[in-house]
Amino acid sequence: MNENGKAAKRSSFSGSIGYVMAAAGSAVGLGNIWRFPYLAAKYGGGAFLVTYIILVVTFGYTLMLAETALGRKAKKSVVGTYKHYLGNTGTAKLGGWINAIVPLIITPYYSVIGGWVFKYFFEYLKGGAKEAAGDSYFGSFITSTSGSMFWFIVFAVCTMVVIFMGVEKGIERVSKVMMPVLVVLAFVIAIYSMTRPGALAGVKYFLVPNFHHFSWMTVVAALGQMFYSLSLAMGILFTYGSYMKDDVDIEHAGNQVQIFDSLVAILAGLMIIPAVFAYSGGTAENLSAGPSLMFITLPKVFADMGGSNIIGAAFFLLVLFAALTSSISLAETCTSTFQDELKISRNKAAALTVVIIVILGSLSSLGYSALANVKIIGMQMLDFFDFTSNSVLMPIAAFATCLLVVKGVGLDKFSSIVKETSGFRREALFRVFVKYVAPVFLLVILASSVASAFGLFSL
Ligand code: PHE
Repeated sequence: MNENGKAAKRSSFSGSIGYVMAAAGSAVGLGNIWRFPYLAAKYGGGAFLVTYIILVVTFGYTLMLAETALGRKAKKSVVGTYKHYLGNTGTAKLGGWINAIVPLIITPYYSVIGGWVFKYFFEYLKGGAKEAAGDSYFGSFITSTSGSMFWFIVFAVCTMVVIFMGVEKGIERVSKVMMPVLVVLAFVIAIYSMTRPGALAGVKYFLVPNFHHFSWMTVVAALGQMFYSLSLAMGILFTYGSYMKDDVDIEHAGNQVQIFDSLVAILAGLMIIPAVFAYSGGTAENLSAGPSLMFITLPKVFADMGGSNIIGAAFFLLVLFAALTSSISLAETCTSTFQDELKISRNKAAALTVVIIVILGSLSSLGYSALANVKIIGMQMLDFFDFTSNSVLMPIAAFATCLLVVKGVGLDKFSSIVKETSGFRREALFRVFVKYVAPVFLLVILASSVASAFGLFSL
């Protein structure tokens, strides 16, 4: 039963745990297992890790709290929340849509990587652990036009079937079982990987900060990763906040999501980075392999372990699952924004989402094969979409949200909203960050990543 008329219109999570599970389900995905380790390997190991954690507990905390609290009070998704506080103005629409557009760019290329995971899962099911560990396996797969397009479409279809059916309950129930299994399996693989001969140098590289490895790019990459991994600056937490019950302690729930998300990322780093040292030597070239790192390094670890086909299949199945729950939340956000803002039916909105996924996703997928020669500002398609969303749009979206808190709502009013249910223990930090540190930092990051993309200076 719903307690009042307002709640009757909007679905809500069952309580604190409902929000934490849903937000963690959205947060934990390819970002943790695939993206975090390759960025950490490339941008400084321990120096990256420390930078990342500092950003999560300051910046991440600030934005997560802002998005969730505003969404909960307004009971709307992101564009609606902006309008709730600023009226139906151009500024509100601009701020809201900059947030809302990010998932539209991420979902397609996320589905391409999801397709790669699908392909590996299938290979292990067929008993192909040896093949998957071959040096050219990954390269020849992504450069074959039909192969990578096929698996991209398979992944996208799985995502969209769920969106069309709207069966979130099922997904949530399954993910409650799958997530813990993923963590246990990751522990086993990480321990195996860390105990290989030569792996200790990798553990050290990843856990012990060495400030010779630190560069400005470490900060830029860590910030982009933090947004991505916590699902910030893209409207998701506004929506989840709006589903949150009015008596849940926002600050506490947010902390739990951050801890869980960071632990999974660290675990993934411990699976992959020591293995890079043990199997291919920790040369700079191997460490900066980028997006392909998980697909090249882990299969070598598996091939070495007993029961490699079973472990490989189990691992990729769980990653696939984590990826699907995230891509569903991404596609769901696109669909609900279209539905609300374009005033079209849910099915039409979902169809529009499909069209966008297919077009942009095909570009990303073909960027490694048929379109390999097409480069935008020197980047392959997939990297370009990743760059546009993480390094350009997300800082702008986050900047807009800081402005909304400081100018649109007002810091005192915002505090009283949070204090309705929470001790707001880090209020002082929040105020300094949302008003000064975050906006300045975001603009600097934005300017430097754009300048480096255009080759104005190298980072
Ligand atoms: N946070 C997810 C991950 O780490 C990606 C994601 C981004 C999911 C945005 C939903 C929304 O993989």
